[in-house]
Amino acid sequence: MIKKILITGVTGQDGSNMVDYLLKNTEHHIIGTVRILSNANHENIKHNINNERFSLLYMDLLDEESIKNTIKKVQPDYFINFAAQSFVGESWNQPKLTFMTNAISLISILECIKDIKPTCRFYSAGSSEEFGDVETMPQNLNHPLKPRSPYGASKCAARHIVKVYRESYNLFAIHCILFNHEGIRRGKNFVTRKITLNLARIKHEIENNAIPTPFQLGNIYARRDWSDSEDFVEGVWLMLNQKKAKEYILSSNKDNSVKDFIDLSCKFLNLKAKWFIDKNNPLNTKLLLHNIPIITISKEFYRPAEVDILRGDCYETYKELNWRPSSTFQQLVKKMVDHDYKLLYNNYNIKKSEYLNKIVQLETKINVMLSELNDLKNLNIN
Ligand code: NAP
Ligand code: GDD
Repeated sequence: MIKKILITGVTGQDGSNMVDYLLKNTEHHIIGTVRILSNANHENIKHNINNERFSLLYMDLLDEESIKNTIKKVQPDYFINFAAQSFVGESWNQPKLTFMTNAISLISILECIKDIKPTCRFYSAGSSEEFGDVETMPQNLNHPLKPRSPYGASKCAARHIVKVYRESYNLFAIHCILFNHEGIRRGKNFVTRKITLNLARIKHEIENNAIPTPFQLGNIYARRDWSDSEDFVEGVWLMLNQKKAKEYILSSNKDNSVKDFIDLSCKFLNLKAKWFIDKNNPLNTKLLLHNIPIITISKEFYRPAEVDILRGDCYETYKELNWRPSSTFQQLVKKMVDHDYKLLYNNYNIKKSEYLNKIVQLETKINVMLSELNDLKNLNIN
């Protein structure tokens, strides 16, 4: 039977990947919600805009009326909530907005589902940031909640409220704790995409004989459990179609440092860069290419409280869903680096071809003038 799937956050990474996955692998109708902006940011979904199984509605998680109106209108069979203020670093600066968007809004959604469409299956995107200051390695569902950021705290609150509604009203409400997942649609402020875009830019600068412009990072020793978002959306869809709703973990069961991510990106771009490590003063550490700094370290990108390491234990989920992520950390880094190198290719090559055209035009002008000069010289004016 054809179902109606409501997805929030479709302009973001996971939402747009989920739309692609469901259009490809199911026959269901997908209703994506976007918030009203002066300039729409539909880059990640523009290829699906004319698909008759995909439509868009305005809805803002901060406006309970808009949630109620949307659920009444759509009567969804599934409500997949990817929308969030998802940037941990910004959550210290906008703690209330983060909490309202990521936690309080869930009460509105769950109340509306309970009152309007109680059979609707609901997905809440939890986070490994809930574990924060970790006590044991790797982390599973039994690990205590020890968030280190307003963002992490908001996701802990989301987890509790989903549990309360699942148990009190027998709603099919899942909360899944996802470890970091990335890809070619990753927002440009997250560390992985910041690295692949900047190193791809630097590679182009070098190929065009320009001096590379360095970029700045914060704590390069933080370790994360990184997977591919395109793998995870499949896991999310599988858990939404199990018999019982419960909590899950999605991870790769491996961790790498930000520095490992940089080293691998350089390898795939064939950038022979070398670290200058200052153990006494991390702010003095830099990555050098032929002695020119391409990455420097700045206090600006350190957080008031850091999560040093995260590594998930996902074996239960692998067993329960009979599923595994298909790509490795190495494949993920390569995919992002290759994508960003190609993405910037046009910028540089259009510039380069404009520059070469200009030279040809000037040479032609000079040749015409030289030939006129010669003609003049050859005139016999006596
Ligand atoms: P993302 O790329 O930042 O996308 C977030 C989406 O939420 C965007 O479409 C954004 O819309 C939308 N949004 C923000 N505020 C909203 C509001 N008030 N009303 C309606 N929509 C709003 O995030 P993501 O990486 O896809 O992550 C998806 C979910 O998984 C989030 O809940 C995130 O916290 C969680 N998560 C992500 C990871 C990860 O590594 N990616 C790991 C654990 C958990 P605009 O385009 O208009 O800004
Ligand atoms: N963003 C950013 N920018 N992070 C940096 C930088 C920098 O310049 N330099 C170092 N880092 C470090 C951060 O301090 C952090 O330890 C690590 O890189 C990863 O940062 P992000 O890519 O911003 O992701 P995150 O781990 O904080 O949060 C992501 O994963 C969570 C799950 O663990 C987000 O997707 C969250 O929404 C998600 O819940």
